[in-house]
Amino acid sequence: MIRVKLADLVPGMVTASDVFTTEGRFLLPAGSVLTERSIRLLKAWGLVEAVVDHDGPLPGGHDGRDADPRILAEAREINKKRFMHTNPYHPAIIELERLSAVRRAGYTAEGVDSAAPFDDGAKRLQFPKNLSVELQPINLGRLREFGLRLPTLPAVFDRVNEIIMNPKSSAGDIAQVVSKDSGLTSRLLGIVNSAFYGFVSKVDTVSRAVAIVGTKQLMSLVFGISIVKIFERIPADHIDMRQFWRHSVACGITSRIIAGYKQIQNTERLFVAGLLHDIGRLLLYHLWPEHALYVLNLSRRDSRLLYEVEREVLGMDPAIIGARMAEQWKFPFLLESNILYHHSPGASHNLLEASIINLADVLVNAMEMGSSGEVFVPPLDEAAWNALNISENLLTVIVDHTDRQLDEVMDYFFPESAEGET
Ligand SMILES: [Fe+2]
Ligand SMILES: [Fe+2]
Repeated sequence: MIRVKLADLVPGMVTASDVFTTEGRFLLPAGSVLTERSIRLLKAWGLVEAVVDHDGPLPGGHDGRDADPRILAEAREINKKRFMHTNPYHPAIIELERLSAVRRAGYTAEGVDSAAPFDDGAKRLQFPKNLSVELQPINLGRLREFGLRLPTLPAVFDRVNEIIMNPKSSAGDIAQVVSKDSGLTSRLLGIVNSAFYGFVSKVDTVSRAVAIVGTKQLMSLVFGISIVKIFERIPADHIDMRQFWRHSVACGITSRIIAGYKQIQNTERLFVAGLLHDIGRLLLYHLWPEHALYVLNLSRRDSRLLYEVEREVLGMDPAIIGARMAEQWKFPFLLESNILYHHSPGASHNLLEASIINLADVLVNAMEMGSSGEVFVPPLDEAAWNALNISENLLTVIVDHTDRQLDEVMDYFFPESAEGET
């Protein structure tokens, strides 16, 4: 008896237990011989695995068995180092490492340079023998000043908020306000029409988007787009900005997908939390570039997790800086706490949401979807994994969905940053 991923099921396998949908609807009894049709049915119901009676290796080429063994072995060797801070016996880590090795092997076989900051980091950063630079202590007053200098959220955001608060207002009122900002409108409609939603027919007006996507959901997107618009022009020395935003957008997409599996309402809110989770690091590196260079070098030289080095050298986790900014800007409280606890979800009052961001961050690091400066896969928080209560077999589906959406969403968030530009 073995739990098999949907992609690995083949006709002729026999179910070892009754099969239900995630909502508990009965689909197939134990002892059913699977056919092409029944496998399609399981797929249509969104199942990710089934328990079948099966001995020996699984057919299909989903785990890298069709990759060149030498190339795959090389990928695994690199992964040994990348995953050194994770628990190698954890089922989710085993699965993520496997997916990541197959991906790396695929890149190598196709002659594509992987986006791997792990290799890139060594190329870009110098490794001075003496790292004992004199660093001035971080002055949080400077962060406050900087926050005050930042433009406030666009007026359109306040206006839409007012309309939402007013019980007499309609979707048309929101659409009217948003439509006045043409940049916002085109990004918003771009995302609504992308694989992010996967709608069959084109949504060409904001009022239609409000009707289909929902007011709160659309507001979350407007919020995310507005904040990114402000921060996208803040360069942080020593971080590849394109990779930083790719990491952030990927984490947002992954968080939203996981939230969907946990039946959370307004999954767009989790998208925004994932999108902004590392904003503290961006600010920190922007304001204190010499500290940034020091911690980046130290973490690579000593093979230590970046946020641990940051905690030690800077005396604080950048997540705290992110949360302080969120507070200063009066972000919704849950968003602030999701940013604050993404490295330590067990300490959050909303364990489930912080756990979603924690897993999403681990996943996008593992799959090398961009980078916010970290070259190692951060550890998956045990409490987070337990709180999420999902199968490790779902991870391949989540990675797949994120892959399908990432490039398109990146293009709508950063339309002017052409490929290759950093
Ligand atoms: Fe982080
Ligand atoms: Fe991150």
